[in-house]
Amino acid sequence: MIVLGIETTCDETAAAVVEDGKNILSNVIYSQANFHRQYGGVFPEMASRLHYDTLIPVIDEAIKNANVAINQIDLIAVAHGPGLMGALFMGLNAAKALSLAWDRPFIGVHHVEAHLYASMMEHLDSLPLPALGIVLSGGHTLFLKITDVGKYETIGTTIDDAIGESFDKVAVMLGLPYPGGPAVEELAATGGKAGMYGFKAGQVKDLPFHFSFSGLKTKVLYTVKGVGATQKSQTLIQEEEKKNIAASFQDAVFADVIKKANKACLAFGLQSIFFGGGVVNNQHLRELFSKSCSLPLFWPTAGLSLDNGAMIAGLGYQKYLQLGASSLDLEAKARMSFSSGKL
Ligand code: KG4
Ligand code: ZN
Repeated sequence: MIVLGIETTCDETAAAVVEDGKNILSNVIYSQANFHRQYGGVFPEMASRLHYDTLIPVIDEAIKNANVAINQIDLIAVAHGPGLMGALFMGLNAAKALSLAWDRPFIGVHHVEAHLYASMMEHLDSLPLPALGIVLSGGHTLFLKITDVGKYETIGTTIDDAIGESFDKVAVMLGLPYPGGPAVEELAATGGKAGMYGFKAGQVKDLPFHFSFSGLKTKVLYTVKGVGATQKSQTLIQEEEKKNIAASFQDAVFADVIKKANKACLAFGLQSIFFGGGVVNNQHLRELFSKSCSLPLFWPTAGLSLDNGAMIAGLGYQKYLQLGASSLDLEAKARMSFSSGKL
């Protein structure tokens, strides 16, 4: 089964053609990041307009690179949430229009679930299950027990900021450019000394696998700008100190994730860990996990780790087999949780 996957949830316009949920025939990603950098974050209205301008050429290129004829495409999959509303409309409406024009079914999938599928799709023949699914992105911090593709139970989540969001906010405090996560990693890697500030992630009473990063974020703010400061206050620290703060923040967050991951694997008898979401691109996180966890670790490979259409097409195939097509009145959703039911 040949599936066209479309992704426009945020600031990447992406399309891919994937066979049987795993063989990637093409994967075209157009990133808008260079445009949004001048605003220090994604400018939602402009993200929609840029999707409008680039989506059809990106889809054309994906089909051309895959070397398939349009009448060989069996299904159109699209991420219909969570994400920016205007941006979601672009992909969703394009998918519906193509479904009508080509007389093919279409299916909406969950963007964050697709991030997790990205690390599973190359190992479908031998998934060591049950597994721990760890999603670390701009909007999600999730621990899931994966019992099968598309079957999850939530073990833990954040009670305040998402992990990527806290990286982005700390990046702003340190005067780093958008996107913040990679900038914090890069600065920390310039010789930043971790552990210099006693930073620690929050713990949630009686919920050992939940996360809290907002207290840590405030601690970083007060370290950079003084106790009681706001984001707009002046920076008090020396330029030289910033790398140590970046490294200390990063290590505090990752130590918390790793400790809870090891505990969750023991508590739930989990066999392996699958990772998804933008933050798992962080090489330091990958090194720390390899050092402190003896289970098989599955990371998304290059081309599948940032927002992309291949993970959407892949998950779309699985969901179509499990649930059938979505109806044409499927709506875009800015927020949505994981669902095993019909969309
Ligand atoms: O999954 P993603 O591309 O978008 C969604 O949120 O769905 O994740 C984006 C988030 C941003 O917060 C970004 O700063 C963070 O992932 N991120 C990183 C790194 N690369 C991206 N955080 C830490 N280290 C990185 N190398
Ligand atoms: Zn994403």
